[in-house]
Amino acid sequence: MKKIAVLGTGQVGEALAKGFLANGFAVMRASREPAKLADWKTAAGGEASTGTLAEAAKWADIVVLAVKGTAAENALELAGAANLAGKTVIDTTNPISEEPPQGGVVRYFTKANESLMERLQAKAPQARLVKAFNSVGSAFMVNPPFKPEPAMFICGNDAGAKQETSEILAKFGWKAVDMGGVEVARPIEALCQLWCAPGFLKNDWAHAFGWLTLK
Ligand SMILES: NC(=O)c1ccc[n+]([C@@H]2O[C@H](COP(=O)([O-])OP(=O)(O)OC[C@H]3O[C@@H](n4cnc5c(N)ncnc54)[C@H](OP(=O)(O)O)[C@@H]3O)[C@@H](O)[C@H]2O)c1
Repeated sequence: MKKIAVLGTGQVGEALAKGFLANGFAVMRASREPAKLADWKTAAGGEASTGTLAEAAKWADIVVLAVKGTAAENALELAGAANLAGKTVIDTTNPISEEPPQGGVVRYFTKANESLMERLQAKAPQARLVKAFNSVGSAFMVNPPFKPEPAMFICGNDAGAKQETSEILAKFGWKAVDMGGVEVARPIEALCQLWCAPGFLKNDWAHAFGWLTLK
């Protein structure tokens, strides 16, 4: 049974932890204050556990980063570069700044020619980061109800980590589309802005992206 650390106690951590448990993985959820996950652990049962970010990252085979974008670099530090070394780290984060959206577009603290994932990869060079799950709402991350099968755009520098993430995405009902290396996180992170715009402008939050090809 593969062991998954889910770093993050928000909606994304909640949804993905549930999805991993339902698909036969062991899950440790992590927080700076693990005690606040006690009710979740009791409700989730057998293969669920809780810990600090460092404890979870050390225990896991695969790590999911699901914290506030402004806290993502700090969360990696708390997890510990040594605990993450050689592991697939699925990065769900977006670099959303504290300022309110402008015309329905969430503002980012990163610049156009950089991404949060590039900053994270530089901070933990031996971790095998893969961007995924960042451009759809948490309610649709597992078993998305859309037809045809929606696409999840992923990127990262390690082919094995992307393969492992693609297999998880397939279990969760997604077609993974590998778009390239870590730099492609720039446009993939921007997709979150596009995904959110109909939400802020029309209160429409029920959609996902697709990918059409000739093949
Ligand atoms: N919500 C969605 O539908 C959605 C969809 C796609 C992508 N995302 C992205 O996924 C990420 C998680 O989103 P979310 O809505 O689940 O949660 P969130 O409210 O953005 O973040 C909550 C998490 O951030 C952590 N955190 C806050 N400040 C911290 C700090 N200074 N150091 C370390 N950790 C800190 C909290 O940790 P503690 O438990 O320790 O307090 C908590 O686990 C975000 O980057 C978001 O952009 C969200």
